[in-house]
Amino acid sequence: MDLFTAIKGRRSCRKYKPDVVPREKIERILQAANWAPSGRNWQQWEFLVVSGEKRDKIGQLYGELAAQRWPDPQARTPEQKVFLQWAETLGGAPVVIVALTKTDADPNTRKMNLESVAAAFQNLLLAAYAEGLGTCWMTGPLRREEELKELLGVAEDQEIVAVTPLGYPAEWPAPPLRLDPDLSQKVRWIE
Ligand SMILES: Cc1cc2nc3c(=O)[nH]c(=O)nc-3n(C[C@H](O)[C@H](O)[C@H](O)COP(=O)(O)O)c2cc1C
Repeated sequence: MDLFTAIKGRRSCRKYKPDVVPREKIERILQAANWAPSGRNWQQWEFLVVSGEKRDKIGQLYGELAAQRWPDPQARTPEQKVFLQWAETLGGAPVVIVALTKTDADPNTRKMNLESVAAAFQNLLLAAYAEGLGTCWMTGPLRREEELKELLGVAEDQEIVAVTPLGYPAEWPAPPLRLDPDLSQKVRWIE
């Protein structure tokens, strides 16, 4: 698939088929992530591929977080209910990928580490799309990062950067509008 087609076509998928994703496909996607640029070439990422009960627990945790946003069940709008359903079930995706990095007391190094893992994560999302799979970059569940770390056996000196479900899409959302399609506000040419 052409790179620009992948960049434009990738969407945050929130509804998946239950079909199992072959391990080789997941490995190819992780290889693409592993080829990202990284600060000082530390390649400071690690990935957890989570399925089974622990996957369900991540959904439960995210569902609880989402429910706190709209505590009164009677007052929830249909859109809020759909979002809650997505959060609790992770859209039915069979696998969740969690990206980790090393924490660092120095804010500059921490920023560099986060940037490196974000680059790897975007590679992962694009490669998944090229493989016919859906993903949804999520930082919402990180509001309970300590619990997540314990659940997944993440070391004290590591932090979770992002989480995504992975699976065959059951539905693709429409592309959201670009806020500044002609880049007249978001880009300044300094010459
Ligand atoms: C850093 C980051 C955090 C995000 N966190 C969440 C999240 O917690 N839950 C969620 O449903 N989507 C999350 N998203 C997905 C965005 O909502 C989505 O990218 C945006 O609406 C644009 O849609 P698109 O990805 O289909 O282009 C996140 C995306 C990014 C880049």
